[in-house]
Amino acid sequence: MNYDEKYKETKDYFGIEPVGILKEHYQKIDKSKPVLDIGTGQGRNALFLAKEGYEVDAIDESKVSIEIVSTLAKKEGLPISTYQSGFETFGDEGKKYSGVLLIGLLPLVSPDSILTLQKKLNLWTEKESLIFVTAFSTDDPSYIKTQESEDWTIVGKNSFKNDNNEFRTYFAKGEIIELFPDYIPLYHWESISKGHQHGDGEIHQHGMIEVVFQRK
Ligand SMILES: C[S@@+](CC[C@H](N)C(=O)[O-])C[C@H]1O[C@@H](n2cnc3c(N)ncnc32)[C@H](O)[C@@H]1O
Repeated sequence: MNYDEKYKETKDYFGIEPVGILKEHYQKIDKSKPVLDIGTGQGRNALFLAKEGYEVDAIDESKVSIEIVSTLAKKEGLPISTYQSGFETFGDEGKKYSGVLLIGLLPLVSPDSILTLQKKLNLWTEKESLIFVTAFSTDDPSYIKTQESEDWTIVGKNSFKNDNNEFRTYFAKGEIIELFPDYIPLYHWESISKGHQHGDGEIHQHGMIEVVFQRK
């Protein structure tokens, strides 16, 4: 998936509204420290939080993502700092965040990068920090297609890689909770989502996982 192209072609590719779990639970985030949005995309979640008075560090590998979010933040005078970076090479100085957003990130990440992410999250969060996660379950309709496709090779449990070095990672029912042993799930939902579309693309559904974790 070339996100630079998607973001250039389609305004609000993931919609204009922030993701539902954030809208429902953002008020639990402590405002005294910033929030880290990893894989900010076109910034729908970062912009929402900044408008609600949170300071946000927004990172993304995509150059176009960062151009869009920094331009909007500047135009609207919002407290968002942007960094074109993968999380793997970001923030080693250990700045603390009261919230970390992983919205749509885990489906794109390799098993090795997930291990890196777990270590970094422990560096970036402290007691009561929240992590907002959305991911795809093995009930996602694309799971079987990926498993059966010659373009994808299995590289870990329910994790696949293609020749462009892209990854697709899915989680079996309840497995997401085991990824975050130092956190309590405040909210956890797994089911088939309602149909939606990106721009004028096909209407489709996902095997969705949504969790709000709080650090113990
Ligand atoms: C599915 S999109 C979700 C965008 C946004 N979070 C939203 O909900 O609208 C995932 C984003 O993660 C970014 N991404 C993928 N791997 C990344 C990594 N290792 N570090 C930082 N960003 C990454 C992609 O460029 C893409 O913009």
